[in-house]
Amino acid sequence: MGDGDVAHGDAPERDILAAVDGYDAINAATNSTNRMGGAMAEADNYLLGRNDAEVARLTRQIVTLASDSETQLDRIGIAQGENVVDLGCGPGGALHLLAGRVGRTGHVLGIDRSDHFVELARRFVAAQGLPQVEVRAGDAYNTGLPRASFDGVHMRLLLVNVPEPARIVREAVALVRPGGWVAGFEADYLPHCCDPPLPAWTRLLEAYSAYARMQGIDLSAGRHMHRLFREAGVTDIVVDAVVHVFPPDHERRMAPRNLIVTARDRLVDAGLMTRADLERDIAALEAHLARPDVQVNSNMFFRLTGRVAPS
Ligand SMILES: C[S@@+](CC[C@H](N)C(=O)[O-])C[C@H]1O[C@@H](n2cnc3c(N)ncnc32)[C@H](O)[C@@H]1O
Repeated sequence: MGDGDVAHGDAPERDILAAVDGYDAINAATNSTNRMGGAMAEADNYLLGRNDAEVARLTRQIVTLASDSETQLDRIGIAQGENVVDLGCGPGGALHLLAGRVGRTGHVLGIDRSDHFVELARRFVAAQGLPQVEVRAGDAYNTGLPRASFDGVHMRLLLVNVPEPARIVREAVALVRPGGWVAGFEADYLPHCCDPPLPAWTRLLEAYSAYARMQGIDLSAGRHMHRLFREAGVTDIVVDAVVHVFPPDHERRMAPRNLIVTARDRLVDAGLMTRADLERDIAALEAHLARPDVQVNSNMFFRLTGRVAPS
């Protein structure tokens, strides 16, 4: 199965994208305030913000990362009827994949810091016909959920976007019953490159890395993730990693461009690039990625699974 295929559940790709069609109206209703639910008082240091470009990026990601996630979920062996949590579920993320695993007798609780994304995710699962999925606003640092009570906790591309990933891992582990599972799927910029190289790529990605560092965020979270789970007491840890080389016309060839477009205002506001230099480099990057003789390598996605020790 190639990238972009949806392996589990029966919704083809076009239905998934149709489910999130109409996000614009929800954007208008919820994005202007990006309210936090409940009593979440801590600063929301999500690296990428939640503008329309980020919604579009995460919406594509529901489809494009599905097959990589399915491979990881296969390894866990999630049973029908399980009660699981997805931390930082975004506007859809892997909720439908988890729902396919636990079935109608199970329950998936998606948690996201953003009311805006919670609304989008609710719309997504409703359109997919997945009543076993519930989505709530919450903070992955401190969910307030009952301790040691879930069969498993999953997170995808959450740790690489936050300043205190170890705290989130500890919270995730605390939610899982003895003998239950945890799963983390995190990016690392190790192999991310194009060939022939492009100075604009280098400048843009360096500005993005500098911006992340300014926020206290580690873009190499993928390679370190195993340590966070070990330190939180997780056993039977298995990690693999996947990297893709994107052929011409593959949608994910534009992933680095899409990331920069999402962050463009932040890079300028932080003084890392002038608007003119940034726009010139984005244009050069787009032209380069569109060339069929340019090879584009993805991030490395580290996929960890493990168990919370039986009591
Ligand atoms: C890169 S997105 C990944 C979304 C989804 N898991 C996926 O794989 O497509 C990261 C998500 O984490 C959420 N997030 C960031 N900080 C959070 C926190 N402290 N608690 C809960 N969610 C958080 C963001 O709102 C965003 O939806």
